[in-house]
Amino acid sequence: MMYVPIFILLVVLSSLCQSDDQLTHTKPLFPKETLISAGGDFALGFFSPTSSSNKLYIGIWYNNVPERERTVVWIANRDSPVTTPATSVKLAVTNDSELVLSDSQGHIFWMATSSTSGGAGAFAVLLNSGNFVLRSPNGTDVWQSFDHPTDTVLPTMRSMIRYRSQPATGLFAWKSPDDPSTGDISSGMDPASSNVQVFIWNGTLPYYRSSFFNDVPASGGTYQANNTSVTYQWMMVDTGDEIYYTFTVLAGSPYMHFSLHHTGKMRLLVWENSTSSWVLISEEPSVGCDLYASCGPFGYCDLTKAMPTCQCPDHFELVDSLNFSRGCQRKEELKCGTESYFMTMPNMKIPDKFLHIRNRTFDQCAAECARNCTCMAYTYATLSTASTTGDASRCLVWTQDLIDMEKASVFLENLYIRLGESPDQKKRNFQKILLSAIACLLLLTIGALGWACKIRGKWHKKKIQTRMMLEYLSSTDEAGGKNIEFPFITFENIVTATDNFSDCNILGKGGFGKVYKGMLEGTKEVAIKRLSKSSGQGAEEFRNEVILIAKLQHKNLVKLLGCCVHEDEKLLVYEYLPNKSLDYFLFDSARKSTLQWPTRFKIIHGVARGIMYLHQDSRLTIIHRDLKASNILLDKDMSPKISDFGMARIFSSDQLHANTNRVVGTYGYMSPEYAMEGAFSVKSDTYSFGVLMLEIVSGLKISSPHLHMDFPNLRAYAWNMWKEGKIEDLVDSSVMENCSLDEVSQCVHIGLLCVQDSPSFRPLMSAVVSMLENKTTTLPTPSQPVYFAVRDPYQPGKAVGNKELSIYDMSLTVPEGR
Ligand SMILES: *[C@@H]1O[C@H](CO)[C@@H](O)[C@H](O)[C@H]1NC(C)=O
Ligand SMILES: *[C@@H]1O[C@H](CO)[C@@H](O)[C@H](O)[C@H]1NC(C)=O
Ligand SMILES: *[C@@H]1O[C@H](CO)[C@@H](O)[C@H](O)[C@H]1NC(C)=O
Ligand SMILES: *[C@@H]1O[C@H](CO)[C@@H](O)[C@H](O)[C@H]1NC(C)=O
Ligand SMILES: *[C@@H]1O[C@H](CO)[C@@H](O)[C@H](O)[C@H]1NC(C)=O
Ligand SMILES: *[C@@H]1O[C@H](CO)[C@@H](O)[C@H](O)[C@H]1NC(C)=O
Ligand SMILES: *[C@@H]1O[C@H](CO)[C@@H](O)[C@H](O)[C@H]1NC(C)=O
Ligand SMILES: *[C@@H]1O[C@H](CO)[C@@H](O)[C@H](O)[C@H]1NC(C)=O
Ligand SMILES: *[C@@H]1O[C@H](CO)[C@@H](O)[C@H](O)[C@H]1NC(C)=O
Repeated sequence: MMYVPIFILLVVLSSLCQSDDQLTHTKPLFPKETLISAGGDFALGFFSPTSSSNKLYIGIWYNNVPERERTVVWIANRDSPVTTPATSVKLAVTNDSELVLSDSQGHIFWMATSSTSGGAGAFAVLLNSGNFVLRSPNGTDVWQSFDHPTDTVLPTMRSMIRYRSQPATGLFAWKSPDDPSTGDISSGMDPASSNVQVFIWNGTLPYYRSSFFNDVPASGGTYQANNTSVTYQWMMVDTGDEIYYTFTVLAGSPYMHFSLHHTGKMRLLVWENSTSSWVLISEEPSVGCDLYASCGPFGYCDLTKAMPTCQCPDHFELVDSLNFSRGCQRKEELKCGTESYFMTMPNMKIPDKFLHIRNRTFDQCAAECARNCTCMAYTYATLSTASTTGDASRCLVWTQDLIDMEKASVFLENLYIRLGESPDQKKRNFQKILLSAIACLLLLTIGALGWACKIRGKWHKKKIQTRMMLEYLSSTDEAGGKNIEFPFITFENIVTATDNFSDCNILGKGGFGKVYKGMLEGTKEVAIKRLSKSSGQGAEEFRNEVILIAKLQHKNLVKLLGCCVHEDEKLLVYEYLPNKSLDYFLFDSARKSTLQWPTRFKIIHGVARGIMYLHQDSRLTIIHRDLKASNILLDKDMSPKISDFGMARIFSSDQLHANTNRVVGTYGYMSPEYAMEGAFSVKSDTYSFGVLMLEIVSGLKISSPHLHMDFPNLRAYAWNMWKEGKIEDLVDSSVMENCSLDEVSQCVHIGLLCVQDSPSFRPLMSAVVSMLENKTTTLPTPSQPVYFAVRDPYQPGKAVGNKELSIYDMSLTVPEGR
């Protein structure tokens, strides 16, 4: 019988293969032997850090990296080396299923400790990820080296931040290049704070602090150099029980890892095969004043300068001009009890040693700080990662000196610092008095003139408002502003309509304020957007939106019915749309199925028509800049209406591109050239539209990378499914039944054309509309997406593409339309 020897051969072969990467209790590991992982990437064995050393360690290193560059990624016994000559030292799985490094005298150098026993027959295996695991025969891993890192983080390793409310241990650097024992430099998460900041410590002293991780659900980047390219994805996961961060690379990528160097730097390295060397992609800290508190109290490290140096905020001066590390002091002392005045500092890495006050709105946070004169500063953020407490607010206040601040255009936080009455303000006060005197005089003169000319009527409040609005409008638009038919609604009417802004009437909240449902004149349902009055934000957006929408009339744009200015209140009144917004249906497992394919197609088509109107059919070219599912409202027939023009920009017809040094928009929907260079054009809207289309087809959110199977993002996922002709896998399962695959496939194809990296390859919206309407046109082939928001994981703030950047960005201006 032939199969018997073949069978035996197979058994022998398979046991041979197995023995390469496994330790069993009958097969220990001796010096000069190695285990090689099944894919051949990693090796485990005994090593000495230098050839002259008499110390032996058990370690894991890259198997394919040449000996001279040997890179040890994990060490079992870093603090208890085996000193040679040693007699029959071995690493073995014992009868009790423990992993033990011992010699024949019974001296135990190291042991894998685990709370559960592996049971009889446990074995240890080196996986191709570089993880060494002790596995019980039933397949449960009872211990793994990934849970006990030394100085290196490998892809797929979960770096614990907190496990069951215990802060987890971090990385420890080698003592020196030749000594792998636990050094003074360590890194990990700040155990004292519920906000996630990475620290590097020198002994017990903080050496470097990253900016916050909290609001970074995921990010990544592509590193490209010579013939090497690696795309990595970085994410933080909060399961309630544990919080960890992890990064992954695409299969087949070159080796990549983070390691904590003994010089105090966290480095990200990639193996460059062509030169056979490690390439440093990034390291933190990078410049001198990046070090923890190096600019002293109230000083900040200004990274916007070519030569980063320590600076003092306005109204502060150096304590000692020869020694920056002594920090800055106020030019004018704070006086408790006087009216508080806060200065806004944008683009800050916020200081350390804050207090987190839970469950506050921005206004409450500001008030909290204002009323207690021990409060030096505050910041506020709305977290996009729904935290386990259900409290997405992050109000931080400081009651001590502000230390370890940095300024860089990539940081997104505003810091509000308390000042005494500033010289500026004194000057302003004086000017105010002067101005009001002049104004009084003028008013008297005008009044006298008015009487003289027999102008009738009184200066009703409403008329003042109307005039203000018309001035707003005509000042920016010579073409047609003067004859706008536009109702101005009185504040009293709005108060009645919303039941004095009752919380029961809140429809939603955004970066600029709240939206209320109201009953105007007791019968007409309207939506009222109340721009938040705090910090003077939103005035530009208000003006922008009124100017724009007042002139726009299209069935796929939301209709503005009126507006109101009352003291510092600014309100916009829109038609009320009962069906909320697209994201309300699209991303909800229960409501998804109400959007069947014909409805989805109608929405895609309607949105495309709406954007086309904005881009070229209205008298001006208008770039929306914040197209996303939550800005697509649905009327009672589920027809889409584009809303939220707070960030739109008007272009003159001969202007093709513009640049902004402040990027606004929403993570995932921003085109690469806009996110990275601030360059925007109609093609940036095309990009956002493409993203929206892919979301509508797949029912997946662009900002939830874990939903995109094994792909770094929705674009890559869609592209691959389309390329492989597996559109059925991509399309939302709740519409599969009723959809025409041809139409879906066409939509995916158009979507992919819209999200191409190069703006010049993306079609104009008019072309998109025509592709949607003529199903027979042959479409060009979309190029493969490469880009996605690059973000250095150790500097989550230093990045583009954060969610809701718009909250922080208020400095929009409307160029003159002409
Ligand atoms: C481990 O088990 C083997 C056989 O199963 C036995 O020969 C050996 O003595 C045991 N060793 C110890 C230390 O119990
Ligand atoms: C597998 O074995 C381990 C160790 O003996 C035990 O703790 C675990 O419960 C077992 N798991 C299953 C699914 O049987
Ligand atoms: C790319 O190749 C050039 C020339 O071969 C070399 O000088 C350069 O260092 C390489 N870049 C990287 C990042 O390896
Ligand atoms: C860490 O502190 C020690 C002294 O406490 C100092 O000698 C060493 O240079 C510091 N390390 C770094 C990386 O600054
Ligand atoms: C790396 O280079 C070696 C030879 O220099 C080659 O054998 C190997 O295939 C290369 N690996 C990759 C992933 O390109
Ligand atoms: C990159 O690859 C090409 C072809 O494989 C080769 O000709 C070229 O020398 C490589 N460049 C480097 C810097 O290794
Ligand atoms: C600078 O100030 C710091 C903090 O007060 C002090 O520790 C340090 O010795 C000073 N350096 C010099 C050169 O005076
Ligand atoms: C936050 O406030 C809301 C309403 O004011 C309340 O229902 C909720 O329990 C609060 N959450 C926490 C964590 O205090
Ligand atoms: C002001 O803040 C400090 C520090 O948080 C606190 O101890 C004090 O009670 C506060 N005072 C008032 C009046 O809230």
